[in-house]
Amino acid sequence: MENKKLVVGNMKMNLTASEINKYVKEIDKKNYNEQVVFCPSSLYLPYFVGKSYKCGIQNIAATDLGAYTGEISIKQVASMKIDYAIIGHSERRAYYHETDEVVRRKVELALQEKVKIILCVGETLEEREALKTYKVLKKQLTTALKGLDIANNKKIIVAYEPVWAIGTGKVPTNSEIEDTIAFIKDIVSAICGFNLKVLYGGSVNDANIAKLNEIPNVDGYLVGGASNSVEKFNKIIEVVVNQ
Ligand code: PGA
Repeated sequence: MENKKLVVGNMKMNLTASEINKYVKEIDKKNYNEQVVFCPSSLYLPYFVGKSYKCGIQNIAATDLGAYTGEISIKQVASMKIDYAIIGHSERRAYYHETDEVVRRKVELALQEKVKIILCVGETLEEREALKTYKVLKKQLTTALKGLDIANNKKIIVAYEPVWAIGTGKVPTNSEIEDTIAFIKDIVSAICGFNLKVLYGGSVNDANIAKLNEIPNVDGYLVGGASNSVEKFNKIIEVVVNQ
């Protein structure tokens, strides 16, 4: 598993009960292995637990168990045998005002449990145009990880998701992604003392996956929109997992 690529579906707040039932029936016929991770709405997670594939939650609370209406604690996630937690997705940062410090708190809490962490980082278009991409990524990674006890703990995965590429159909060139991922890996190994897996996310789909999959240093993909279609997501999985 160590060197195998991951394909993570961030299904966001999509699909109703009847649609998810159909979706699960279809994916259960496919025999996916643990390289494939589904992150549906939290409500539907129990349908995805204990299968041949893995599953993850899209967000966790920045607090421990307690009186926090509407929140879900990482302890509850772990107790439901959910494998992964996405932390710091740009939609959480943009729409729910999650700062780098909140993201760090979530990482800290998640490190206390078995659940693997998918830590999302990425620059906005404005930051990119101001040539601040590396500065922003360094700050996001340093604030989230520095000083935490993660030595030899390989359960953190970083997802590089340029905000301007999410849901827009715009994707950086392969060499831009390769360079940025190399930068992220350098920063992370300077902070943690070892390498972490780094995924790419942002408008990954069944039409561009073959080309994206040529990037040598990418350890997998975080797929949003396309993961809500079994057919499209399956095409992506076939390219990445059966390469
Ligand atoms: P997208 O979303 O694939 O729809 O661009 C990616 C993400 O937000 O994780």
